[in-house]
Amino acid sequence: MHVLSVVGARPQFVKLAPIAHALEGRARHTVVHTGQHYDDNMSDSFFRDLGIPAPDVNLAVGSGPHGKQTGSMLASLEPVFEDYRPDWVLVYGDTNSTLAAAVAAVKLHLPLAHLEAGLRSFNRRMPEEHNRVLTDHAADLLLAPTEVAMRHLDDEGLADRSVLVGDVMTDVLYRTRDRVAAAPPSSTGLPDGEYLVATLHRPDNTDDPARLEAIVSSLAGLDRPVLLVAHPRLVAAAERAGVELARGPIRVIAPLSYPELVWAVSNAAGVVTDSGGLQKEAFLLRVPCTTVRPETEWVETVELGWNVLVGDRLGELASAVSRPRPAETAATPYGDGHAAERVVDTLLERRISV
Ligand code: UD1
Repeated sequence: MHVLSVVGARPQFVKLAPIAHALEGRARHTVVHTGQHYDDNMSDSFFRDLGIPAPDVNLAVGSGPHGKQTGSMLASLEPVFEDYRPDWVLVYGDTNSTLAAAVAAVKLHLPLAHLEAGLRSFNRRMPEEHNRVLTDHAADLLLAPTEVAMRHLDDEGLADRSVLVGDVMTDVLYRTRDRVAAAPPSSTGLPDGEYLVATLHRPDNTDDPARLEAIVSSLAGLDRPVLLVAHPRLVAAAERAGVELARGPIRVIAPLSYPELVWAVSNAAGVVTDSGGLQKEAFLLRVPCTTVRPETEWVETVELGWNVLVGDRLGELASAVSRPRPAETAATPYGDGHAAERVVDTLLERRISV
């Protein structure tokens, strides 16, 4: 069997790591990087730190408006798929790279598998929501991370193509958590258990100057150090809007490597974020999370008490971050850390002849 993975953005490199390891010795694996993310700390550092072989192809598409970026990936992927003609094109998550690869694959009648299928925010303002819905409906095989995701796929008439495999982010998080506990990366320089890790990169939060100012001033009003790990989109948007990020307790730092991020979150009092992955990582590390979004795809984190959504009610941010620690839980809604092996088993079992 020959699997061709298409990745392009930071969270996809994290998901690729356990899949690349699980495919070793079981199938041929080709990795195509669209180049959506290209800075060392947004891309190459993940390949190095997570032991992922260098991509076989890098399309170097770079940044741009949705149509231009997605269209350029689509045009560049087609000849690559023609060349390799894999048994499966495997796409990850919900970025523009996911959608471009999904469209390119189905047009060439190549079997398409979608990892992290079935997630829904039901917020049609999010570019990721369009990407996931369209990719799920195009794919031949839907690899779902949770029971909730399986229900969404069933509701949309996709049950017969769906398989519950668990969440591969749990696999990589557990492995990295154990690694950093044994050999800690460089410290944040802040006292353990007393600071917050914050990230902000959703266009709905960063691209409206009034909203961005309101969020940053809420963070600046908190009574403990805030380590703001700043995505390039946030830095650019703040500069454009004239919003000062480094004020009050906020310390701004560049994006961290994956092990550094896991270590920083492990030792934090809490997380404030609009990232999908980080909400889950906080839960898995049992660090309380406050999410600056009106909804989440990872509803289990909220139901179990480890995540609070503040959305537009920024006045509630301070009380949300200082809420008492939630009740401990043994629930494992994101699987057991062996999802990637099930992904490979499923790809082998459901292989379609072309
Ligand atoms: C993308 C994904 C989002 C994911 C996020 C993780 C889409 C629609 N969105 O959003 O789902 O959560 O990745 O980070 O695909 N930039 C750099 N260097 C880089 C990459 C980006 O400076 O290496 C800057 C550029 O100014 C660029 C901006 O960040 O315009 C946004 O990058 P882009 O890939 O378009 O979207 P993200 O916000 O990263």
